[in-house]
Amino acid sequence: MLSELQALERENVIGTYARNPVEFVRGEGARLWDEDGNEYLDLLCGISVTNLGHCHPEVVAAVREQAGTLMHVGNLFYTEPAMRLAARLSESSLGGKVFFCNSGAEAVEAALKLARKARAGGDVVVIHGAFHGRTYGALSATPQESKQAPFAPLVPGFRACEPRADAIAAAVDANTAAVLLEPIQGETGVHVLCEDVLAAARAACDEHGAALVFDEIQTGMGRTGTLWAYEQTGVVPDAITVAKALAGGLPMGALVTGPRLADVLAAGDHGSTFAGSPTVARAALAALAATSAPALLENVRRRGAELAEGLAGLPHVLEVRGRGLMLACELDVSAPEVVRRALLGERLVTNATGPTTLRLLPPLTIDGAQVQSALERLAPALEG
Ligand SMILES: Cc1ncc(COP(=O)(O)O)c(C=O)c1O
Repeated sequence: MLSELQALERENVIGTYARNPVEFVRGEGARLWDEDGNEYLDLLCGISVTNLGHCHPEVVAAVREQAGTLMHVGNLFYTEPAMRLAARLSESSLGGKVFFCNSGAEAVEAALKLARKARAGGDVVVIHGAFHGRTYGALSATPQESKQAPFAPLVPGFRACEPRADAIAAAVDANTAAVLLEPIQGETGVHVLCEDVLAAARAACDEHGAALVFDEIQTGMGRTGTLWAYEQTGVVPDAITVAKALAGGLPMGALVTGPRLADVLAAGDHGSTFAGSPTVARAALAALAATSAPALLENVRRRGAELAEGLAGLPHVLEVRGRGLMLACELDVSAPEVVRRALLGERLVTNATGPTTLRLLPPLTIDGAQVQSALERLAPALEG
């Protein structure tokens, strides 16, 4: 029988999501509670959004205070949180300038517009297995037949190549506006791009004057053990896209450039009504400050190593991939079934990115006891 919410959904909500049959009503740290008071351990963070855990006290305090002071006035005026946040984002990464928006796909759109303005009519080279979002530009940059085909025709000028150094070198030429890539492909199963692939992309962009854009929407905000994943690669991109965990659970995205691309977009070129509004910007300032703490990033590296090692020893796990607390396991059993058993039987929130791929994106604040508990509860879910 359908619950009241399931009936409301069936009647009223366009069916783009396959939801799990659980209604969450409260969260704190790594824990969630459903409407019957059952406690769950969250190993997914709303797909890497609540990286600081649910209801992080500093984020909550910032939102409460700002919401009672000034929620929105728009980009025709100055507001302090957005200007301070832009400065913090720039100094924490590439040292250029920031465009604010409201989601990951919008950050990708901004990057595409910037790249095309820098090289008029230029192509964008993307990588097979990528996911950059669902809006038309971001979807056109997402070379997955099942996602693109129903929505053709797409935006022209995108070329996909294999994640190999020679393929990237061959794909980039004098007409390339940008190479857009995720340093770790998240939605298609946590595939870490090799250093030589990133270095080849950097070299090809330098040679042909194209922009190298890293999509750090999932890998950023501490997820891999450094604030930005590119810090661990030896390659510095010309711009990064950021979203998901940026505002500690509120919707916000950003394009952050290095100095070379900082002034490509000018007044009137791009915009968004809600972008950089005071409440989300205050939340992001609090989230960025908490995420930048060395002890937190050290926790990501340590707990990530413990979790990866523990996962590798569990039944039906063939391979563990990822960095920090962005991990996936390749299984020899059905991952969606494991996710269902983990959720309903063990009260663990996980996710399957494919038929045999289990993805874990726990809060960066997870402690050692919670990692051990997660491993102990995953074992029976894997055994079935
Ligand atoms: C790497 C990457 N880019 C872009 C997006 C799109 O973000 P959003 O869903 O906020 O539009 C996602 C979402 O999963 C992502 O993982």
